Amino acid sequence: MLFTRRQVLTGLVGLGVAGAGIGGVRYWLGRPADVTTHDYELIAAPLDVELVPGHATPAWAYGGQAPGLELRGRQGDWLRVRFINHLPQPTTIHWHGIRLPLEMDGVPYVSQLPVLPGEFFDYRFPLHDAGSFWYHPHTASSEQLGRGLVGPLIVDEREPSGFRHERTLSLKSWHVDKQGAFTAFSVPREAARGGTPGVLSTVNGQHAPVLDLPAGQVVRLRVLNLDNTLTYRLNLPDGEARIYALDGHPIAPRPLGKEYWLGPGMRIDLALRVPAAGTQLSLRNGPLRLATLRAVAHAGASGDWPPALPANPVLEPDLQRAETLRFNFEWAGNLSADVGQGGAYTFWQINGQAWDINDKSCAERPIATLKRNGHYIFELRNLSQYQHPIHLHGMAFKVLSSNRRKIEPWFTDTFLLGRNETARIALVADNPGVWMFHCHVIDHMETGLMAAIEVV
Ligand code: C2O
Ligand code: CU
Ligand code: CU
Repeated sequence: MLFTRRQVLTGLVGLGVAGAGIGGVRYWLGRPADVTTHDYELIAAPLDVELVPGHATPAWAYGGQAPGLELRGRQGDWLRVRFINHLPQPTTIHWHGIRLPLEMDGVPYVSQLPVLPGEFFDYRFPLHDAGSFWYHPHTASSEQLGRGLVGPLIVDEREPSGFRHERTLSLKSWHVDKQGAFTAFSVPREAARGGTPGVLSTVNGQHAPVLDLPAGQVVRLRVLNLDNTLTYRLNLPDGEARIYALDGHPIAPRPLGKEYWLGPGMRIDLALRVPAAGTQLSLRNGPLRLATLRAVAHAGASGDWPPALPANPVLEPDLQRAETLRFNFEWAGNLSADVGQGGAYTFWQINGQAWDINDKSCAERPIATLKRNGHYIFELRNLSQYQHPIHLHGMAFKVLSSNRRKIEPWFTDTFLLGRNETARIALVADNPGVWMFHCHVIDHMETGLMAAIEVV
């Protein structure tokens, strides 16, 4: 695989003076294009954070915080991020859910070479879709995401939406002990099961925070699951909440209902009608409280439910002429004792093939080749006892049906495939490239549950 000269050579060793920013200074100045080449300068660097009171955790941060700095753009504009690596390891940034050119997708040896310590890389791409997205590395993922390299990327609608208030809630559960020291991010016996869970749940980097919301107003809550492993069974007892978008893509608003299962990598945009001042609500994962939402007095007329958000410009797959491809997601029990050539475990496979994260040539053997602008139905079969949030890079897909539940079709980039579930999804293969197709439980993806899909 060849990379263009610009991508390979953008790195400068010993960088520390690019632009005016240090320590993750944000530029979002709307300056004329001739004086600035980027909207953000984003630095990844080690940072001690206090997750456990009185103890330091040696996190890795984007823009001086973990989870990382919230990046924002507007639909129809370009996002231009100069990314600077001050970590002790090579890394990349992948823009989860964003439909962009392959060279900007952040997959090492497929999109770009890893950004070495001291180097920088300019990511630039147009924002076709509005919604709640996120970013993370695609290298040494258990450790890099586990240490905090995850952050929200919010794309505002082209025209103002009806929401006047909003809040981003980044969910992450940390692999730390009682002194805040990191524990193993991936343990083989857990990777072979449901994935290695963290134990300390946080919202925006704080355990069980109290978040103030304006009483009487309708607030857009963008809830992002940036965790390596956990599926949150999200619920808001006594809260009057409606779902407006799933994984960045608008739906016809409907009540949140009893709970919503938000798998790793998935997002949900809720409208919450904040109750009277002084009232508290619990945002929970099953029975566990993630955050307290406290209504505080707010001047001004109370808000009403905004209209549905405008659909993103995703092509509608034509099911009549679509070709069906089948993908089986399996536990590779017979391989579990083997450690592959590079020392990677392979506990999982897609259609009988396990991805070896240490083998740079895996992407040269795509599991499927799609014709550009062809219409496809994927039948996803989970033959295992564990659920898998199945994610595709580069394109959005429509969820059509499942053998386990009633589906109201919606567009997404990540579908939580339940144990023993068979689901059908469809897409128009409108983005040429080699796109990763993987489970977003990070240690499943690192132990085989990943493949490449090529669009030519
Ligand atoms: Cu969040 Cu390969 O992706
Ligand atoms: Cu992705
Ligand atoms: Cu999985």
